[in-house]
Amino acid sequence: MDTNANAIENRVFYPSEEVVKNANATPELYEEAKKDRLGFWDRMAKELVTWFEPYDKVLDDSNPPFYKWFTNGKLNVSYNCVDRHAKSEKRNKAAICYESEIGKKVVLTYGQLYREVNMFASALSKLGVKKGDRVCLYMPMIPEAAIAMLACTRIGAPHSIVFGGFSSDSLRDRINDAKAKLVITADGNFRRGTPFPLKKNADEALKETPTVEKVVVVKNAGNEVEMVEGRDVWYHDIMATADTYYEPEKMDAEDMLFILYTSGSTGKPKGVVHTTGGYLVQTQATLKYVFDLKETDVYWCTADIGWITGHSYVVYAPLALGMTTFMYDGTIDYPDKDRMWDMAERWGVNVFYTAPTAIRTFMKWGTEYPKKHDLSQIRLLGTVGEPINPEAWMWYYENIGGGRCPIMDTWWQTETGAFMITPLPITPLKPGTATVPFPGIEVDVVDENKQPTDRGYLVVKSPWPSMLRTIYGDDQRYIDQYWKRFGDYYFAGDGAKRDEMGYIWVTGRVDDVLNVSGHRLGTAEIESALVECAEVAEAAVIGKKHDVKGESVCAFVILKDGFEGTPELVEKLRKHVGVKIGPIARPDDIIFTAALPKTRSGKIMRRLLRDIAEGRALGDITTLADPGAMQEIAAKYAGKE
Ligand code: WTA
Repeated sequence: MDTNANAIENRVFYPSEEVVKNANATPELYEEAKKDRLGFWDRMAKELVTWFEPYDKVLDDSNPPFYKWFTNGKLNVSYNCVDRHAKSEKRNKAAICYESEIGKKVVLTYGQLYREVNMFASALSKLGVKKGDRVCLYMPMIPEAAIAMLACTRIGAPHSIVFGGFSSDSLRDRINDAKAKLVITADGNFRRGTPFPLKKNADEALKETPTVEKVVVVKNAGNEVEMVEGRDVWYHDIMATADTYYEPEKMDAEDMLFILYTSGSTGKPKGVVHTTGGYLVQTQATLKYVFDLKETDVYWCTADIGWITGHSYVVYAPLALGMTTFMYDGTIDYPDKDRMWDMAERWGVNVFYTAPTAIRTFMKWGTEYPKKHDLSQIRLLGTVGEPINPEAWMWYYENIGGGRCPIMDTWWQTETGAFMITPLPITPLKPGTATVPFPGIEVDVVDENKQPTDRGYLVVKSPWPSMLRTIYGDDQRYIDQYWKRFGDYYFAGDGAKRDEMGYIWVTGRVDDVLNVSGHRLGTAEIESALVECAEVAEAAVIGKKHDVKGESVCAFVILKDGFEGTPELVEKLRKHVGVKIGPIARPDDIIFTAALPKTRSGKIMRRLLRDIAEGRALGDITTLADPGAMQEIAAKYAGKE
């Protein structure tokens, strides 16, 4: 399977007349933005956001790369996502639909969501949360997670959500980096029928988090938990005494909305900082025109709220637009492999957005599962997270979209906050490419010298509203990471190609970041987890091509003298990485070796390790310090298979 979409596809799929006729987007959007880029964003900001006080400037670029958007504008995100709809004819419209793995169902109307968000904001404020305090969420995909996010924004307390699948060590480090004052979690949530002990994990982390004063616990799975006297409170208890209205804080457009940690090329995850105004403008504009949402749609984005996709396109953009967003908490094959299609049919999902790794899994399971269900109400599909291989694209198009639904392949990042390169429903599609930049976004493919080329590095040439503003507490790292390489162009860390239609084909990361099942993992993070083990002297981690996950984690390990690479040790190391980072980071392969290929300056040559792991002939090794080391590794790996 060509998971890299290396061979450029030439099949073109034109949108049907009906799609073009009914689309929110028109070709004029591109022309408008081309003529007057800032004027386009100005119009979006005025049409899509309710401002308490108008902004005086669309973009302040006087201090690059610290750009400011919609300066001095005042707004509140929860007001935009909830109040303005709850006070309109949408009051009784479903805002959030939810189903749990064991079949619990909840529908919250905008009116009800308004009440819950106000009450939880009041409850948080009574626990001492104030504007500017950081609140950490370690939660399942339950409605209370969205309520908690919105309640934080109502107070102006930035949240930092840590994916529930991350370990207690990862949670602890993120809580401490953000100096969070309060943590919101749940007792547990169901995974394949048994409760996963979220609160227990949180308790582990909370042993070493000096800044945390209070912990709010949602009763969800009903599993036993320990409540720490004076620190822990139940969500339902504090809601019982909360006020039903909490005045939304007037936030500045550039006040911090949230921090979200993501992997970079060093061992320490980066706290990506997003602010209020620009984020709310671009997430809404993109969702409206790309996913073409209509008043009566049920929209389902399958991402977890622990990732940026969950932030922007499960919670903030759909609610700000007054749409109906569906949330599922559970595994995709429980009780059977048709669970997703069963829910899509029962809830009447019209727009469905998921990741290529999930599509490849569905593909492996076979078409009989979607065929069991009536999916004819689905109108539009989307993908995100990694390049989609044309084979998976075609499967999705035919078997889920019934050959009638355009697929929006959206390229973006935690750092970009919202879609950057994406088709609109009116765009002719080719399987495997995210096509062209969204109106008002300027990207390019450049070579080492910043010159446009057809194969090189993906850059963003001008600031965009939902861009990250910095790395939390580390402005220098923000500059070094994104703006050093190409000056005033933002460097995304991805490689890309451009075809004769001008379409951009993202080929994957060119830095030391892996993409495993659409999740970002830093090689350095996994390496430092490995070298913490007493047996390990040195480790090098690479991503190895994988049919379903896109990439799998493969570790080359040098042991200290006196230790042997036994199967027990392999298990121990895998387990340790799982405990340190989370199960998704556990290496699929661990290869013991006596040496690692390094350049003369001491940098590990991961490209060569990838060649070995994927069984390719060895490429150029003339810059190696000890070419012999390479042969040794290759021989060892050949023996393993
Ligand atoms: C990759 C997820 C190709 C890319 C929203 C990027 C993609 C990284 C696509 C960001 C796509 C995401 N085509 N590659 N449509 N979408 N990527 O921060 O390598 O979790 O840099 O954000 O995923 O991952 P992140």
